[in-house]
Amino acid sequence: MRIEPFFVEQWMNAHETTATWNIAETCVHSLTLDQLLELSGDADGVVHRLKEIWLGYGDIVGSPRLRAAIAALYGERIGPDNVLTAIGAIGANFLALYALVEPGTTVVSVQPTYQQLYSVPESLGAEVKAVRLREEDGYQPDVEAIRAAVDGRTGLIVLNNPNNPTGALIGEPVLREIVEVARDADAWLFCDEVYRMLEHEAGTTAPSVADLYEKGVSSGSMSKSYSLAGLRTGWVAGPAEVLQRCLDVRDYTTISGGVLDDALAAVALEHVDAVLGRSLGIVRGNLAIVDAWIAREPRLRYVRPRAGTIALIHYEYEVPAVDFCQGLFDESGAFVMPGVAFGEEHAFRLGYACSRDVLEGGLSAVSDYLRSLDR
Ligand SMILES: Cc1ncc(COP(=O)(O)O)c(C=O)c1O
Repeated sequence: MRIEPFFVEQWMNAHETTATWNIAETCVHSLTLDQLLELSGDADGVVHRLKEIWLGYGDIVGSPRLRAAIAALYGERIGPDNVLTAIGAIGANFLALYALVEPGTTVVSVQPTYQQLYSVPESLGAEVKAVRLREEDGYQPDVEAIRAAVDGRTGLIVLNNPNNPTGALIGEPVLREIVEVARDADAWLFCDEVYRMLEHEAGTTAPSVADLYEKGVSSGSMSKSYSLAGLRTGWVAGPAEVLQRCLDVRDYTTISGGVLDDALAAVALEHVDAVLGRSLGIVRGNLAIVDAWIAREPRLRYVRPRAGTIALIHYEYEVPAVDFCQGLFDESGAFVMPGVAFGEEHAFRLGYACSRDVLEGGLSAVSDYLRSLDR
């Protein structure tokens, strides 16, 4: 099996530990253990229960408590038995794609998106047909283009909603139209939903495809919206048949998740309003700072994100994206992701859910860099 190098993750690995201003991060500014205990409202009780945890493999598919807390994020179709935990969403995506992709089939992939979602299907012998989201459409999918990409061999359509890198949000009516396209083709519909629940405007939470469609499969994670990437806990939610296939794969890679990670993820999701309230406060406050900054920069533009932690920003300079981002890093220590990681030239992805100090310092460093390019 051959697989394309994962540009985003390699760029992150190369820069994130030495950056002065990490404004490439996609997680909401992570909690400390102490802060999580505080948010639980019962720090002593939680610590007491953690100390009693038996440090064996634990529940192979994820503890009943965690799976129930995850299932509560979905509608009626998804119960605890429709949830399988994984090592992050990256593990969940891998399992789901391994379970759903057949060699010789076609996979329709809505892009730009997280590279894993199309490079893994390619590596598994599928033909990937990309349908691009366009800036002039506000990065909303063209459902007819998705329908046109479906052919007699299409077994899977892959989405990422809310979207990385644009922060665009596909609402329920369009999602339902995409479900109809999948249903007409009798195809699976897989959606990476790691930024779900981080819709900025109240009342705009996107439904999960796992709730909308009998062949819908969703992945989620503690990393982004719930600000707990260090727990390395994600999940696949979907029909029992798919979870069994995922488990057949997972038996070869994971055995079980970490029992402490599992327990802490359950604590967080049992206090989901407190955790999400903090996350939403950070993204909404910080996006206002980004808005004001973009308005002051005449050679930058973006489609304002409606969800998540990131934005795709286009710049009007001739410099290619990799040179732009590396030059910025070398001059100032400010770290952003080149748009070419998502097939977008003359653009970079900004992560704005970091601490306010880092965001302000990072944006100011970008402005200084732009002034040097103006000269
Ligand atoms: C769309 C998307 N899916 C999955 C992941 C991986 O997340 P996790 O930390 O849960 O493995 C990321 C991380 O950036 C992501 O942006």
